[in-house]
Amino acid sequence: MEDHVRIFDTTLRDGEQAPGCTMTLEEKLEVARQLARLKVDIIEAGFPAASPGDWAAVHQIAGEIGTPDGPVIAALARANREDIDKAWTAIQPAAKKRIHTFISSSDIHIEHQFRSNREEILNRARESVRYARSLCDDVEFSPMDATRSEPEYMYRMLAAVVEAGATTLNIPDTVGYTTPEEYAALIAGIYTHVPGAEQVTISTHCHDDLGMAVANSLAGVRAGARQIECTINGIGERAGNASLEEVTRAVKPARHFLNRDPQINTRDLARPTRLITTKTAMPVPPNKAIVGANAFAHESGIHQDGILKNRMTYEIMDATTIGLDGNELVLGKHSGRNAFRTKLAAMGYEFDSEEEFQNIFRRFKDLCDKKKVIDDRDIEVLIAGEAQHTPEVYRLDHVQVTCGTGVTPVATVRLTDPDGNEHTTAAHGTGPVDAIYKAIDRIVERPTELLEFSIKAVTEGIDAVAEVSVRIKEVGSEAPPAEFRIGRHRGPQIYSGHSINTDTIVAAAEAYMSALNRMLAARQERLSAEAAAYAAGYDRNTPTYAVDLFGQNAVEE
Ligand code: KIV
Ligand code: ZN
Repeated sequence: MEDHVRIFDTTLRDGEQAPGCTMTLEEKLEVARQLARLKVDIIEAGFPAASPGDWAAVHQIAGEIGTPDGPVIAALARANREDIDKAWTAIQPAAKKRIHTFISSSDIHIEHQFRSNREEILNRARESVRYARSLCDDVEFSPMDATRSEPEYMYRMLAAVVEAGATTLNIPDTVGYTTPEEYAALIAGIYTHVPGAEQVTISTHCHDDLGMAVANSLAGVRAGARQIECTINGIGERAGNASLEEVTRAVKPARHFLNRDPQINTRDLARPTRLITTKTAMPVPPNKAIVGANAFAHESGIHQDGILKNRMTYEIMDATTIGLDGNELVLGKHSGRNAFRTKLAAMGYEFDSEEEFQNIFRRFKDLCDKKKVIDDRDIEVLIAGEAQHTPEVYRLDHVQVTCGTGVTPVATVRLTDPDGNEHTTAAHGTGPVDAIYKAIDRIVERPTELLEFSIKAVTEGIDAVAEVSVRIKEVGSEAPPAEFRIGRHRGPQIYSGHSINTDTIVAAAEAYMSALNRMLAARQERLSAEAAAYAAGYDRNTPTYAVDLFGQNAVEE
């Protein structure tokens, strides 16, 4: 156990707070299920004081995922009693609970954001941890902006919180500023400057502004850290956090020198990374380490020659060890339910109900009519599509486009509204997709701005399945200042939509509908989440959401 590096996943907190990464409650639950399947040790499920909706999401994840043999469920809280109370009530249903509280230790934050002084902030850190510990046995403390803090002061703060009962000390490189040597020295210094450090877990939390989040995390482990905080696909504020798939793969081959071994099911890595790609507006670049589309692609003649002779010549890992490829059972139009069920089981999919399986089987059969051979990647996208749980506010019933050389593209669409009324309209545009989107906008009457539109072929060949992704912004939703991002008004409201189809035009229409429906449902969901939070015990008498991330000192301008 001593050598075990705990993996603390903060995809649902630090990751989700990044612009374009907002997820619905159902999507958060799905991510949490995948994280539990991966066997991460701790899931930071959210920041309950941010809004009643965030509280309700943490509460639900704690209830469903926080089983006795499941992960620890952590919730973030600023260093004040109200936040700590909200974190504590939200994680109640979990068998293993953790309160994670934080306050800044750098002078730049203390002076300019808290308008306070070192002694006052240190006292607040101590008192908050003492209070959190009176509620919960497992308390993590983070001195925010640790890497830009004066080390002696930060160590003093850490000593005070250890004395007050903190069980994990997390050292955030909040602005992604440090380097491996410097970070390792800071971590090593904890053992010499903080009495009791040997009795608590030291943790890394590195942002990627200089592209060194993973290297810094590994340096931290080498210097004695036994927990790494990271996110799926490295999503997170600005340049993101250390990526879970990179740190877990990197610690494994390097364990002889790091003398640490994380117990992660790396074979289950491919699915959560695809899930985050489809649920958020944060696609994985093709050259991304481990999970990018090109991570196992070989183009040059010399490399291909080597790979054909022995894959180890140009690959440092077997793709099957991260859940890619390797399954030889190929399906096609003659495959029946049994073969399909067996294939899904071999790929590790389980279904909550027979109905869910039958829906996917139906989609599989439709695909077989258009594509001869169905491989694992096709199945992954079928399931990702089925699991999208995109709220259906408007339903797309029909889409047809006329286009070609010398004609103005014209699209006709038919939608059914939430009350069951059908609407048909036509519009012309600069291209077929533009015409479809204009026709849809004419019916829905909610102005949006199309930020991104991308098409990619999921598999090879003329009958490949096309995956269309769009990102839209609700016109009129201005971006609040960065320091207000974590609260209810978190950045510009950007929604993503994805669809897969062998017909690219239909996929384009479906992807746009999926983004639009998410946008329309978001408001509704916020209202019902608030109601659920109040019904489940969210305290109405304390401020309902964080005014800003640093507002712990209630600075009035
Ligand atoms: O980056 C950071 O400092 C954080 C803290 C809240 C731990 O995310
Ligand atoms: Zn962070």
